Amino acid sequence: MKPSRDESPRPDILKRHSLAVRVMHWVNVVAVVVLLMSGLQIFNAHPALYWGRSSYTGAGPIFAPGSFPGWMTLPGAQWLAMGRRWHLFFAWVLVLNGAAYVAYSIASRHLSRDLWPSRADLRSIGRSIADHLRLRHPAGEAAARYNVLQKLAYLAIVFGVLPLLVLMGLGMSPSLDTVVPGWVDFFGGRQSVRTLHFAAAMVLTAFVAVHVFEVLVTGAWNNLRSMVTGWYRLPSPKGPS
Ligand code: HEM
Repeated sequence: MKPSRDESPRPDILKRHSLAVRVMHWVNVVAVVVLLMSGLQIFNAHPALYWGRSSYTGAGPIFAPGSFPGWMTLPGAQWLAMGRRWHLFFAWVLVLNGAAYVAYSIASRHLSRDLWPSRADLRSIGRSIADHLRLRHPAGEAAARYNVLQKLAYLAIVFGVLPLLVLMGLGMSPSLDTVVPGWVDFFGGRQSVRTLHFAAAMVLTAFVAVHVFEVLVTGAWNNLRSMVTGWYRLPSPKGPS
């Protein structure tokens, strides 16, 4: 959504997020939280990861952290069957919502205008990393648009990590084997696919942690309000509101 001041009472307040982006963002948040927690529920049934086609090769696990505590799992400490049902249901929510978000972002030109980095953006990556490490964030007009690190992170999540997560998830369901026999062997086998699914979920978790941290340190109320009502106040150079 092109930041617009059409209906804005003040020049420093603008409409930053369209209704469609806001709704799809929060549906995504619910789906991701339930998927991560029900995924840990399923993981707890066999809390070890292997590489290759099978876990019965005698090679032993490549990662065995033990079970995750019950408060981190849904719908309860040890309920594999129900954990799977929640996981598969919200996987559909994630995929359908994600597909709608990508289709909307292309059709509305949100992708090309607001998320795709310009050449000037790419040239500013080094400076943006240095600024972020010093917790120095854009203010005034410069804050009207996403900075280059936000753009690259959102694109990597939407077009990289989430599709890989879904594909590796499909790799654990034998049904796809009937369509493309042996495709999981391209990734090293079913156990490798399970490990890559877990690894992608951990990358997503790290993204959410940094994302929420940045939302909080650049003006928690202003940012959250913008993702609920759409309205965003440009931070003044003196500091976030
Ligand atoms: C409780 C957790 C979360 C909170 C509080 C949160 C908050 C926000 C806020 C305030 C923005 C707007 C940033 C800005 O205007 O500069 C935003 C944008 C965004 N968030 Fe989140 N977020 C959360 C979780 C997630 C998750 C789980 C994902 C994806 C897996 C995600 C992906 C995105 C994306 C892609 C955008 C850009 C949306 C667009 O303009 O198209 N967020 N988030």
